[in-house]
Amino acid sequence: MSFQFLLLENIGATRIITINRPDQMNALNKATIEELHTAFEDAEADEHVRAIILTGAGEKAFVAGADIKEFASFSVEQGMELSLLGHEQLFNFVERLNTPVIAAVNGYAFGGGLELAMSCHMRVASSNAVMGLPEVSLGVIPGYGGTQRLPRLVGRGKATELIVTAGRLSAADALQWGLVNHVVELEALMQFTTDLAGKIEKLSPSAISSALRAVQAGFDSESVGLKAEAEEFGKCFGTEDFKEGTTAFMEKRKPTFTGK
Ligand code: COA
Repeated sequence: MSFQFLLLENIGATRIITINRPDQMNALNKATIEELHTAFEDAEADEHVRAIILTGAGEKAFVAGADIKEFASFSVEQGMELSLLGHEQLFNFVERLNTPVIAAVNGYAFGGGLELAMSCHMRVASSNAVMGLPEVSLGVIPGYGGTQRLPRLVGRGKATELIVTAGRLSAADALQWGLVNHVVELEALMQFTTDLAGKIEKLSPSAISSALRAVQAGFDSESVGLKAEAEEFGKCFGTEDFKEGTTAFMEKRKPTFTGK
């Protein structure tokens, strides 16, 4: 199967999925999200695939977020729908796979990019990686699970600080916060991640699937928070701050927010 925005490769029993829009920092447009859904579904259905690695093409970005240019003109309803569909097609979908998914975070992971990495079961970052949820700097909030998965991974206080300050975390800080499992040099990232996947390949696929389902079951109550997130995300699309934030991004200038 061939994709417009993805590259696929098999190493041993590991499927490597690479998001390939480097000129747009691998931003997640609608088509890329749909392709990722299909690629993950195919990998899960293939009994020869024992582990999946997700990474971004190029040396600058894992994924720099949802595609701001694509959603800038959306209404409140379209905003909420964008979030709900994203959960269903990609973010919840990946988290609930029976095949372990490792994010190889090879550069910027902002907004939907960090949310995608957090939906994966494990994260390895390169030392040049920078992570954050900068949505409030655009007049919106994380809408792909970030308000739920970041507090779970790093604790409520640190998560809230990162979200409300639109802060950026270095790879070293992300390691210290527990947001990523390992940090390695960029040149070593794919080898390290493939070696980690190689350890999984040798173990019982049925027991590993059971372990993933059991871990996930402990977090199933999050659906309430994800629904609230989608509603709040949608509401942002009706504000002047959202129009100002997204317009400023596209005009490559700093926004001026009024709170309206
Ligand atoms: N959505 C759409 N396009 C994006 C994007 C996004 N999330 N992130 C980057 N791009 C595009 C830029 O608009 C630019 O396109 P252009 O060449 O057509 O103008 C291209 O990718 C390169 O990005 P640029 O900003 O020029 O690169 P940079 O190295 O100066 O900065 C980032 C890289 C990641 C720091 C910067 O692009 C950025 O802040 N992106 C947005 C991050 C964000 O807010 N994500 C949350 C989205 S909800």
